[in-house]
Amino acid sequence: MQKGIIDQALAYVKEQFEREYSGHDYFHTLRVFRMASRIANAEQADLELVQLAALLHDVDDRKLSPETYEQQTNVRSFLVAHGVDEATIETICKMIREVSFVGNESVIPATLEGKCVQDADRLDAIGAIGIARAFAYGGNHHRLMYHPDIKPNLNMNHEEYIRSQSTTINHFYEKLFKLTDMMNTRTAIQIAKGREAYMKAYVEEFLSEWDGNR
Ligand code: ADP
Ligand code: NI
Repeated sequence: MQKGIIDQALAYVKEQFEREYSGHDYFHTLRVFRMASRIANAEQADLELVQLAALLHDVDDRKLSPETYEQQTNVRSFLVAHGVDEATIETICKMIREVSFVGNESVIPATLEGKCVQDADRLDAIGAIGIARAFAYGGNHHRLMYHPDIKPNLNMNHEEYIRSQSTTINHFYEKLFKLTDMMNTRTAIQIAKGREAYMKAYVEEFLSEWDGNR
């Protein structure tokens, strides 16, 4: 691959996400990039593939860019413009399609490299940053933080998950607490366990304060 392509991809996503504040901003991509690199090094995966897929994983996101989502147009244009061969482009596009969490229809990536990127994206949804992203997303979508009468739905299919109008606290049960068990690599499982314990303590504290018990 061309020398400097990673730096160019970094610059490209910075520009793409400049005006995005939904929790899917440039810094999300940057964190996924760093975490995916860390996992790839520990798991001895192909670093360049992992880094490119991590950097480009959200540029054709279904929510952020619905018009390029199906064809993965932004990913392809970037890679073509930087001289990446057709087979590698297909590999990276597939890795990116495998990343997304779609309720109980999520897939296990076919390659170690795909697993590193999926794990890194999911790790960014849990822990202290995950909590912040969940409430930022909830506010952005006019959701309640919590409602004692709205119960979590633990087994949603893709369409139900996309359309769900649940609360942000329910999101912890509907997605965030499931993620540790869905991690692929040993490296990510270790990190996820620590972050999950932190989130569980957080939700427990939230609910005690809600009931006036603390
Ligand atoms: P990604 O594509 O990065 O895996 P999503 O697009 O599913 O993530 O969501 C972006 C962020 O918003 C994640 O941190 C996720 O946990 C959070 N989020 C998604 N759906 C909800 C929801 N219904 N309530 C609260 N947070 C949510
Ligand atoms: Ni993402």
